[in-house]
Amino acid sequence: MCGIFGYVGQRDDTPTLVLEGLRRLEYRGYDSWGIAVKRNGTALVEKHVGKIGQASTSLPASTIGLGHTRWATHGGITTLNAHPHLDCSGRLALIHNGIVENFAELRQALRARGHVFRSETDTEVVAHLLEDELRGAAGTREALRLATMATFRQLEGLNAIAVLDVQTSTLVAAKNGSPLVLGWGDDGVFLASDASALLEHTRRLSFLADDQLALLASDGAWLYDVRSGEELRPAIREIAWEQQDGGLAGYQHYMLKEIREQPRVLRRIAREGQAQAQTLADLVLDAHGTYLIGCGTAANAALSGKYLFSRIAARQVSFATASEFAYTEHYLNERSLVVALSQSGETIDVLETVRAARERGAYLAALVNVEGSSLYRLADCPILLGAGPERCVLATKSFTAKLAYLLLAAYAAAGRIEQGVRLVERAADEIEAFLDDPRAAQVAELAQRLYRKEHLYLIGRGPSYPLALEAALKIKEVSYIHAEGFAGGELKHGVIALIEADTPCIVFAPRDETQRAIISGAMEVKARGGCIIGLGPDAHEAFDHHVPLADVGDASVIVNAVPPQLLAYHLCLLRGYDPDKPRNLAKSVTVK
Ligand code: AGP
Repeated sequence: MCGIFGYVGQRDDTPTLVLEGLRRLEYRGYDSWGIAVKRNGTALVEKHVGKIGQASTSLPASTIGLGHTRWATHGGITTLNAHPHLDCSGRLALIHNGIVENFAELRQALRARGHVFRSETDTEVVAHLLEDELRGAAGTREALRLATMATFRQLEGLNAIAVLDVQTSTLVAAKNGSPLVLGWGDDGVFLASDASALLEHTRRLSFLADDQLALLASDGAWLYDVRSGEELRPAIREIAWEQQDGGLAGYQHYMLKEIREQPRVLRRIAREGQAQAQTLADLVLDAHGTYLIGCGTAANAALSGKYLFSRIAARQVSFATASEFAYTEHYLNERSLVVALSQSGETIDVLETVRAARERGAYLAALVNVEGSSLYRLADCPILLGAGPERCVLATKSFTAKLAYLLLAAYAAAGRIEQGVRLVERAADEIEAFLDDPRAAQVAELAQRLYRKEHLYLIGRGPSYPLALEAALKIKEVSYIHAEGFAGGELKHGVIALIEADTPCIVFAPRDETQRAIISGAMEVKARGGCIIGLGPDAHEAFDHHVPLADVGDASVIVNAVPPQLLAYHLCLLRGYDPDKPRNLAKSVTVK
């Protein structure tokens, strides 16, 4: 969601530096943006509605500044509501991620004290509140620090703020919930909501924990505990270069690039992920109750894990959508294992849920793609997916990476990890072959037939059921076609009422115990005029179109996930949308 980027140091090209930083954060999803820098003792602000695109900044040279990409929560998508927000005096320019839950009361009190508000946002109250806290205080960094702490302590909800104070030439930032990272550069200090925005400047990062405040100036940066005021020693992590995003590398869109990266990611997991998969398997074997949780695509991967552990290791693991799990956690205890799946490691619904699970004593494992993310740091056993940066809002390679880890862990739990490794390698080969041979073009042709449709249905049984959900999610997110995934067995319990002449229905038909029953379902849809698109190794008369996919045993789920990703991509292009920036969506969902 919202992105934060700041810099203070020796460089005087801060406006461009911040703009480029915001470009790196674009993938998070946003609808307006803005930058503030200090010049001749005042804060100069530039704000825009829409995407950054090819925009340049008109702000003058400066050695200190910050910027923000806003995903609207409180107040419409307008220039006035875009951040940064100024206090009445113009001394402070403030940006914010999260939601100030008590903003209405605060604003009322501030108005009564004479503050004038220019926006409808919850954010602006923080600027005025800080202005009040600074009233009568010395114009020093120390006074700024104390006032910011006092301000931050009054905010309810999960928030991250960053302030440019032109009087002391300082950036001050604090967080609770939403992520913030400090970057230690050679010629200055950086601040961002996302480590990936900093990696082109420095690998030396310090992740702020909740209730920490950082003070950044041209001569260094200092960290404090917001509650006690105590100064803390920032822990500096060296992040591996391979986490750096290599750009589009000749592709038109990140979505396609990331779809094509999947064979490489899977081979790497097969090669290097065995120890981590074994660790996860041992945790599952040892636990009294394992709960796989996630949101969106990560939830679909978690549900796949339930099927994989059952069929491969005869082991029961439970699945829950992270946002719902919170309401059924009462039975968790010290013997419970919660395995949280998340690409970003910053999804608020996941973080809140696992924090509550930890309070009940549960052990927390995480399958996460972003090193240093909140979930990564929170987990007792963090397992890095190693899929590399995923910049498209749609999760593709992180989905199949999660499937690969879950499959390996299930095989490890069954004492047959080598077999799992071979299957993941074969899945990688099959995906590579599919993406390079005429079947990829066949999917593009299918998109031509489907892109004007209003509804699309997808069915699967067993391990293919989560795939149907995931494929529907991909199509919805990026093409805005109404797509629904169903368990094949549920067809006759209601869904079949929706089938009309030529309604497209994608059928996952792998060569497993679900094949016969899913084909029967396909025949029933066809009998009602539906158009059947079959995905699987075997052709069938029920199929109006058949995309042949190799049978890779239990790893067929990994292979079969890819054609719908490609279909969603082509549907999006044909409908004239940008696959990397779908409307209303954010890459990391950091507010509830
Ligand atoms: C995936 O295509 C989606 N954009 C979304 O459902 C995503 O998977 C979900 O928000 C969870 O994100 P996470 O994996 O970063 O926790």
